[in-house]
Amino acid sequence: MICLGIETTAHTFGAGVCDSGGNILSNEKDTYKPKAGWGLVPMDARKHHEDVAEDVVKDALEKAGKTMNDVDIIAVSQGPGLPPCLYAGMNFSVELAKKVRKPLIGVNHCIAHIEIGRLTTKLKDPVTLYVSGANTQIIAFTAGKYRIFGETQDIGIGNALDKFGREAGFEFPHGPKIEEEALKGKWIGMPYVVKGMDLSFSGIVTEATKKFRSGEKLEDVCYSLQESMFAMVTEVIERALAHTGKGEVLLTGGVAANKRLAAMVGTMCMERGAKSAVVPWEYCMDNAAMIAWAGVLAHKSGQKPINMKNAEILPRWRTDDVDTPWV
Ligand code: ATP
Ligand code: FE2
Repeated sequence: MICLGIETTAHTFGAGVCDSGGNILSNEKDTYKPKAGWGLVPMDARKHHEDVAEDVVKDALEKAGKTMNDVDIIAVSQGPGLPPCLYAGMNFSVELAKKVRKPLIGVNHCIAHIEIGRLTTKLKDPVTLYVSGANTQIIAFTAGKYRIFGETQDIGIGNALDKFGREAGFEFPHGPKIEEEALKGKWIGMPYVVKGMDLSFSGIVTEATKKFRSGEKLEDVCYSLQESMFAMVTEVIERALAHTGKGEVLLTGGVAANKRLAAMVGTMCMERGAKSAVVPWEYCMDNAAMIAWAGVLAHKSGQKPINMKNAEILPRWRTDDVDTPWV
C-alpha cells in the first residue's frame, strides 16, 4: 500500500510518500517565510501553501518513483494548527482525493510526530517531548491513549525563542541563531516557571527582552534563556518517566534540533538508566512523510476516511482525543 501525505498545519507545505512497510520513499516541502521582523501571517501562509501545493506533490511523487495511479490512500494533517493553513491542506487534499477516487485519511499532527519518531529511532514506548513552534507537550502512552503529562500554558517553546529572536533582530527561524549565540554566553539569571507538570514561557521571554534592552550581552541572554527553558522541560520529562515507569525519551519537533536541549535530556536519562533519542532532522521538523506514515497506521487499523462532502479541519484537536488502536 502506498500513501501520499499532505502537511500544512503552520509554515510548511509538505508532501511525502511512504509504503505500508514503513519505507519512506520521499519527503518534499516548501516553507513559508514571514518577512523580516514579522511572525507568521496566517493568510499569507495559506496563500503560500495554495501556490506551491501542486509542485511539491509532483516532486514528492517523482522522487518516490510513483505516479498518482500508484497511490492507494491520501493522508492529510487535519489538526491541530492554524485554521487558514489547515484549510489550504484540506481543500487541496479533498479535491485531489475526489479526482483520483482514493480514500482520504485525517491525521493528528502531534501523533504523526510521535509515530515517525518511533519508526525512525526504533524506540518502542517512549515519553515524548514534542517541542516545536506552537507546541510544547510531554506525552506518553498509558491506558490506551497518548496522554499529555505536561504542556505549555501559554506559548510554545519555539515561538518563545522566535519572539526573543525577533527582538534581537535575527531572521526566522531564530532557534538556531540563539543556539549559536548561547555557546559563548554565561548565566545571568532567568525566571524558571514550572506549575505542577505544566510550563509557562511568555514571562521568560518578557524578562529576556528586558535584560537585552537594558544592555546585557546578547550571548548571555541567549544562554540563560535556553538554560532556564530547557531545564524546565527536562524536569517535567523526568517526572513523567518516574510516574509512568518508562525507560525511553523521544525528542521531536523543530526545537529538538537544539544540541544543548538534547544534551540536557540525555544527561538526565543517563542518570536514571533511561535511553533518549532525537528524531532525525528531516523528520523532526514539520514534514509530510510523518503524515503519510500515520495515515498508513490509521488506515490499517480501520479508521474511516474523511467524508468529502463535509470535510472538517480540527484546529484544536488534542493529542489525548485521538484513537490510536495500532499502538
Ligand atoms: P508546529 O508548531 O505546528 O509543529 P512549526 O512550523 O512552528 O509548527 P517546527 O517546524 O517543528 O514547528 O519547528 C520550528 C521551530 O523550531 C521554530 O520555532 C524554530 O525557531 C525552532 N528551531 C529550529 N532549530 C532550532 C534550534 N537549533 N534550536 C532551537 N530551536 C530551533
Ligand atoms: Fe509540528
